Amino acid sequence: MKEIINKIDISTKIKNIKLSSCIMNASGALCSTEKELSDLLDSSSGALVTKSCTSDLRNGNPKPRYFEWNVGSINSMGLPNLGIDFYINFLKRKKTNKPVFLSISGFSLKENLYLIKKANLIENISALEINFSCPNILNRKKIFGYDSLYVYKFLKNVFKFNKKPLGIKLPPYFNEIHIKNISSIINRYPVMFVTCVNSIPNGLYINSDTESVVIRPNNGFGGIGGEIIKPFGLANVSKFFSFLRKDIYIIGCGGISSGKDIFDYILCGASAVQIGTQFIKEGISVFDRLKKELKNFLKKKNYFSIKNFFGNLKKF
Ligand code: SIN
Repeated sequence: MKEIINKIDISTKIKNIKLSSCIMNASGALCSTEKELSDLLDSSSGALVTKSCTSDLRNGNPKPRYFEWNVGSINSMGLPNLGIDFYINFLKRKKTNKPVFLSISGFSLKENLYLIKKANLIENISALEINFSCPNILNRKKIFGYDSLYVYKFLKNVFKFNKKPLGIKLPPYFNEIHIKNISSIINRYPVMFVTCVNSIPNGLYINSDTESVVIRPNNGFGGIGGEIIKPFGLANVSKFFSFLRKDIYIIGCGGISSGKDIFDYILCGASAVQIGTQFIKEGISVFDRLKKELKNFLKKKNYFSIKNFFGNLKKF
């Protein structure tokens, strides 16, 4: 029995980046500080994704800015991070075989291009994940992923110099035409992967006892994550899988808390998955548990590799 489980292969590839496990952390979840990053490097996650960084250190939005309940979470963190130099220096110091995805979230086209130029000089960054989907910047009313002209301008400029594997973390879209439009722009450039989805913007969770919002920034509005968003994550992965070029990989994210959830994302066309809210709730052991649960689930279904069912969602 144990032998069969050991043979089940949950490794994956994002183009030529090999991941020993298809499960990694989502940017933003416990991946900001030296300790958090070191713990992730030592964990059984298949890759390390860093907190989205900006040119300079940011303290982020006022607290409380994160709240969770049984099936979801709401956050308005405001991109607190230690600045790109901290993440670059951390990665220069730490020798690791684990693939490292540096997440970048500049406030303008200019800042994003500057950050990417800087990251291009660093050898041990496997890929860049450009965050076009943070919903929590109080004085920046726009989520870049909802502005197709911005996405086009970015892609047109970045591939004039970028040599690193590059992916984009997208917001959830709720209309097929929006996914089709963004896909048609992305398809024109050598984008390696997209990550779908970031938290669902503009959510509101309230405490009926205190008759109050639960987070301070933006009058209590924030990005919604956790179990309740999984159907939207699956829908986005599935639609992007049908509209993107076949050599663009998809990393699924949103509401994963069990091995079965990971199975569902891979069935819809994700090559790997990211864990956000559940990682914050459960801590670093989540990667061992999910790995075990996924393998057990595959065994029950008589699958020996995630390749056996990748993208095979049946339709009526
Ligand atoms: C934040 O820092 O506000 C969350 C990050 C994100 O949603 O991209």
